[in-house]
Amino acid sequence: MSIVESDQDEIRQIESGQVPTRYARGWHCLGLAEKYKDGKPHTVKAFGQKLVIFTGSDGKVNVLDAYCRHMGGDLSLGEVKGNEIACPFHDWRWGGDGRCKSVPYSRRVPMRARTSTWQTLDQDGLLFVWNDPEGNPPPENVVVPRIEGAEDEGWTKWVWNEIVVNTSTREVIDNIVDMAHFFYIHKNFPTYFKNVFEGHIATQYFDGISREDVTPADPDPSAPKMLETRSVASYYGPSFMIDDLTYIYETFNMKTVLINAHYPIDENSFVLMSGIIVEKKPELPGDPDQIAATQAQWILGGFNQDVEIWQNKARIDNPLLCEEDGAVYQLRRWYEQFFVDVADVKPEMTDRFEHELDTSRPNESWKKEVADNLALRRAAEGQLI
Ligand code: FES
Ligand SMILES: [Fe+2]
Repeated sequence: MSIVESDQDEIRQIESGQVPTRYARGWHCLGLAEKYKDGKPHTVKAFGQKLVIFTGSDGKVNVLDAYCRHMGGDLSLGEVKGNEIACPFHDWRWGGDGRCKSVPYSRRVPMRARTSTWQTLDQDGLLFVWNDPEGNPPPENVVVPRIEGAEDEGWTKWVWNEIVVNTSTREVIDNIVDMAHFFYIHKNFPTYFKNVFEGHIATQYFDGISREDVTPADPDPSAPKMLETRSVASYYGPSFMIDDLTYIYETFNMKTVLINAHYPIDENSFVLMSGIIVEKKPELPGDPDQIAATQAQWILGGFNQDVEIWQNKARIDNPLLCEEDGAVYQLRRWYEQFFVDVADVKPEMTDRFEHELDTSRPNESWKKEVADNLALRRAAEGQLI
């Protein structure tokens, strides 16, 4: 073997694999429920299809395939009439159960006049749909937990944001285990990081401190100082994460709940959503609604930092990891369970898996980096004087 050939052998090749051609089984949040309760039909592109979402006069939110089974009219451009959606083409009326209830100009509704529907869940101010390529209802143990503080007088209302991202949903999921990117991309300083995967739930425990080198000093020196953030964030299924995020100040704790959720538009694009509520407490440093709005902007900024990476990166099935990286491969095995038939879910996809990262080495080098940056900043300020 020549030297050149053996050198070639050393080069690690990126394997990109195939983007899954099916959509994950699970509850998917479609945003704030009230948006769909204005008496009008809504067009939503999800799971590679066009859907119509409408609320009948009974108050129930319904999700149907948008294309009318008569001649293919777009129901999402139709009209809500009673509890039914009327097609704009020939006024056929479709109920939330997917059945054609009447054809106003005909004596009878044709047999087998049924279209596809998605089971909905209207909870805590959010709308969810159950997606299952096999067509089964959600198992009893697969539920979206109630959110403490949602629609509660003692908390703010949801501040909700949505953006379209043109890549595969696996990129968002990878974030669950990716400690180091928090420092480099989101300018957070993780001090504790652990993951637990079990069944359909994947959790990230994260404690962090502010990075002094990127946080401007508060102009008001008497303002309460934030010492630490503590986050317990769980994905319930493939796409809906509830993050109990507490900001620890010198004299009080600020409790927030952050939602990080998405639904696929098609194989290579998805809607990424964030929502936040803040517990109202008199000791908060300002108006709670204003704090929630500010936090929401900050979270949106964080999403955009991720998006910029995703839009430019390669899809990679064989990441080359170091010891301080998280359990990417185990996480992806967990994620796989949502893309196979229930009969093909293997124990390694759902068995309990725990992994705590040793943050000592990363913390050592990050402390030094922060200190170096602060020294550079002081030197630059000194030159200006
Ligand atoms: S296409 Fe919908 S009623 Fe004819
Ligand atoms: Fe991120």
